[in-house]
Amino acid sequence: MSLNHPFPDTVRIIEVGARDGLQNTTKHVSPAVRAQLVNLLVDSGLTHIDTSSFVSPKRVPQMANADQVFANLNRKQNVVYSALTPNLKGMEMALAAGATEAAIFTSASEGFCQSNINCSIAESLKRFESVMELAQQHNIPVRGYVSCIDCCPYDGQTSPEQVASISHELYQMGCHEVSLGDTIGTGTPIRIKRVLEATSKRIPMAKLAAHYHDTYGQALANILASLEEGLAIIDSSVAGLGGCPYAPGASGNVATEDVVYMLQGMGIETGVNMDRLLIAANFICHELGIESRSAAGTALSLRNSFLKTATNNN
Ligand code: HMG
Ligand code: MG
Repeated sequence: MSLNHPFPDTVRIIEVGARDGLQNTTKHVSPAVRAQLVNLLVDSGLTHIDTSSFVSPKRVPQMANADQVFANLNRKQNVVYSALTPNLKGMEMALAAGATEAAIFTSASEGFCQSNINCSIAESLKRFESVMELAQQHNIPVRGYVSCIDCCPYDGQTSPEQVASISHELYQMGCHEVSLGDTIGTGTPIRIKRVLEATSKRIPMAKLAAHYHDTYGQALANILASLEEGLAIIDSSVAGLGGCPYAPGASGNVATEDVVYMLQGMGIETGVNMDRLLIAANFICHELGIESRSAAGTALSLRNSFLKTATNNN
């Protein structure tokens, strides 16, 4: 069978479970547990970890004491431990904690930008200038996030041209890649393709990442559509954890286990060991007292325990 679409040979996964995954949970977990999660994720072969956020602890209490998360890491070489840095204060704290990459974040819609980071899009871009300057002085790469690429919980539908324009601003100011956030998970494959088509006219596709929440169950379909367009960087969250406190109704990110399962099945290399990833997933689900939201993770865990019981009975 010949495929019409040449898929990439490898995909880089950015694991956001310790940040996006834990920023909106009812049960707050300690910095030591958050660090342990990161260490287990790294053990599974993941090399890019969104580790925590240096944001106001009044606004996002789940991310408080991010410096202690960094202090408790068993750091490995060639692993990127990144942090969200919304302003200069955040960048200073991230540098002091030893983050090896920073991330600035804004929105393609005014309503979410205001609610999330308490300023307009234009003000956020202005704010990022000093953040970028400090990062450059310290040779720290910076990632850019653009939220609400399909729809905003406050302003409704977003235009692909607006996503392209804000993404371009972040790229121009020095972000090495731009992650496109379907924050409330409303996107569907053709709409996502339109966003990628518009944005890749302004920024190389190789510099774009997919950050799709799975609120409407569309995330894997949207990832497949994005791979068809040539995108090869995917943000995902262990056990499908995630959500933003300032995006009402947004549920988890696409689960890393589901992404890895799909990519393995397509012969696309990720460098992730599924059994070890399941250890990280079980660890954090146990800590939070919840079930995994990953279909593949749940199925594989059940299969593994069935095989274990069968072996023990023989
Ligand atoms: P502000 O509200 O404009 O106010 O902050 P401020 O700068 O005047 O500071 C107010 C208070 O916050 C002061 O403390 C500051 O010291 C403190 P007080 O005097 O009241 O005690 N403060 C900070 N503390 C720690 N770290 C900092 C910091 N900055 C100020 N960096 C700010 C602006 C952005 C900080 C605030 O609005 C905030 O923290 N918002 C939360 C943003 C957030 O974390 N949202 C979730 C992550 S984004 C996301 O999930 C989307 C994404 O996943 C992509 C997608 O899915 O679309 C990335
Ligand atoms: Mg997100």
